[in-house]
Amino acid sequence: MAPVSGTSPVPAPPLLRTDRLLLRPLTSGDTAHIVALHTDPDVMRHLGPPAQSGSATDVVAREEVPRMVAAGTNHTDPDGRRQLPHYLAAETRDGGRFLGWFLLRPVTDSPLLPRRSPASLELGYRLARAAWGHGYATEGARALVHAAFTEAGADRVVATTMAVNTASRRVLEKCGLRLVRTFFPVWDEPLEGAEHGDVEYGLTRAEWTRSMKGAQATASDRRSVPEQ
Ligand SMILES: CC(C)(COP(=O)(O)OP(=O)(O)OC[C@H]1O[C@@H](n2cnc3c(N)ncnc32)[C@H](O)[C@@H]1OP(=O)(O)O)[C@@H](O)C(=O)NCCC(=O)NCCS
Repeated sequence: MAPVSGTSPVPAPPLLRTDRLLLRPLTSGDTAHIVALHTDPDVMRHLGPPAQSGSATDVVAREEVPRMVAAGTNHTDPDGRRQLPHYLAAETRDGGRFLGWFLLRPVTDSPLLPRRSPASLELGYRLARAAWGHGYATEGARALVHAAFTEAGADRVVATTMAVNTASRRVLEKCGLRLVRTFFPVWDEPLEGAEHGDVEYGLTRAEWTRSMKGAQATASDRRSVPEQ
């Protein structure tokens, strides 16, 4: 993953690149994709009832998307020149296919997380059904964890999901986050599986630094093994 620069709002320039993904600011031009994403019952299974009626679809287009587009930014340098929006659209580098969105925002914006320091950043993601199972969520989330610690000054990256959301938990584990606690929010209309609670995962800067050093040492060990 390598950060790339660019400030022109139209078209939104990529902010992060991975092997297969471009992450760029989410814009109002993504509305149709977001409506499709947020109205897919499979995608929303662990997130809440999908907006299915015409008026509910309007809510996504008229309220949710503008809120996401207008959400804040993580300042990534002292001059504030390079900023990472809280919501990033993900598309394929090959062909520019819209895959979904990733989130990185201060936990102070999260309804489910304790009021920790704003330097704790919450990680999230929502991908279109057709994009599942290709490692995209892990690839994008790893890029954001890296950016959180190397650019956005995070002291901790945290995430929550339903305990029964196995795919999301696996993504978090593959990004190095560890289970912190299981908790039981009170919901007006609990989703299937809510009785198992929600889980919080976290990764501190110290843990992330150690894992990076470990990975470098392993790579260097591999390089120093003589050819047989
Ligand atoms: C959660 C989500 C982002 C995962 O996306 P993805 O691109 O399929 O994830 P990846 O391909 O990176 O897979 C990550 C791991 O999860 C595993 N996984 C994926 N789907 C799974 C499932 N349904 N059950 C069990 N494991 C699953 C993968 O096998 C992989 O682990 P492995 O490498 O050890 O095999 C995607 O399912 C999604 O957008 N769901 C709807 C929105 C959502 O629930 N977001 C999270 C809310 S907190």
